[in-house]
Amino acid sequence: MKNNIPLSTIRSFKANEEVRAYLLLKEKHLRLTREGKPYLDVILSDRSGMIIGKIWEHAGDIEPMIETGSPVGVRAFVEDFRGRKQLNITRIVPVNEEDFSAKGFSWELILPHTGQNPEKMWRFVERTIKKVENPKLLALLQLLIINNRSRIVKHPASLRRHHAVIGGLLEHLVYMLNLGLRAAKQYGLDKDLVIGGILLHDIGKLEALSGYPSNVPTDGGNFLGHEVIGYNMVENALSEIGNFPEEPALKLKHIILSHHGRYEHTSPRKPAFPEALLVLYLNELDTRMDMMKTAIGRELDDGDWTSAKNDFRIPLYKPKKDEDHDNTAEDRPHTDKKP
Ligand SMILES: [Fe+2]
Ligand SMILES: [Fe+2]
Repeated sequence: MKNNIPLSTIRSFKANEEVRAYLLLKEKHLRLTREGKPYLDVILSDRSGMIIGKIWEHAGDIEPMIETGSPVGVRAFVEDFRGRKQLNITRIVPVNEEDFSAKGFSWELILPHTGQNPEKMWRFVERTIKKVENPKLLALLQLLIINNRSRIVKHPASLRRHHAVIGGLLEHLVYMLNLGLRAAKQYGLDKDLVIGGILLHDIGKLEALSGYPSNVPTDGGNFLGHEVIGYNMVENALSEIGNFPEEPALKLKHIILSHHGRYEHTSPRKPAFPEALLVLYLNELDTRMDMMKTAIGRELDDGDWTSAKNDFRIPLYKPKKDEDHDNTAEDRPHTDKKP
């Protein structure tokens, strides 16, 4: 890429400007216009956000040259399309670390990370697991959580919807545990089941999502979903451990299968006891809190309200500039919560 335009990040893109940036290609779809001309629809991201782009010229030739999950160098015009920024891409090239690091590329620029310290969060998980009394459940958490440490500390919690960052799954688990321990006490619930249920509810995401840099659904994720994959992982671990008491085993599996709560939300079961209901609501709360904070943090223009083009389908109120302490491209919008 020519260097006459400085490199920038998605969060600092302004409508009607020409920009140049290194971005991660999340999705590409070759489509036809009404006139039958091929064009490319792409979704691009960096540490600061995500943006849709269109490639109108030579789309058929460009499509095989760029790879989903890989970095690309982009030159584009930022357009305002129905209140949302979008890129009209004039140049897009595949990028690799060796050739492009001298030109300003680094993986750090494009891969989004949790705003929390992964080591601290992991220590919180370990401390919480030590509170578990049932030795068989401890063995299960050792197998599926402790032994998977290197994967869990890096894994995102989803594709796009919430905590879709490196370390996002760990953050999601820690925030749920932090609230769940208090709620378990307040409502007089089975602490072991709450801890085990929270830690295992999304364990299937380790297999359902590829993780970064590409973070795409695996075939298993698309065919089965993370609930069924997680159920299988627990089932296999239970038979490896042997003699796991029947009722807690069934309850843990029920929590995994019911944590999305509604049949139409890919949940095969609805919560049938209080600990399962708690995991459902903690999951929903933490998911939606992250979605709202991310939606607000993504729109940095001067208005007081975001557009209604977000998961909540209403304009969201933005913090005043002096309240917004994390106003840099590197910071994620929700670094204020401490586990
Ligand atoms: Fe889930
Ligand atoms: Fe979850």
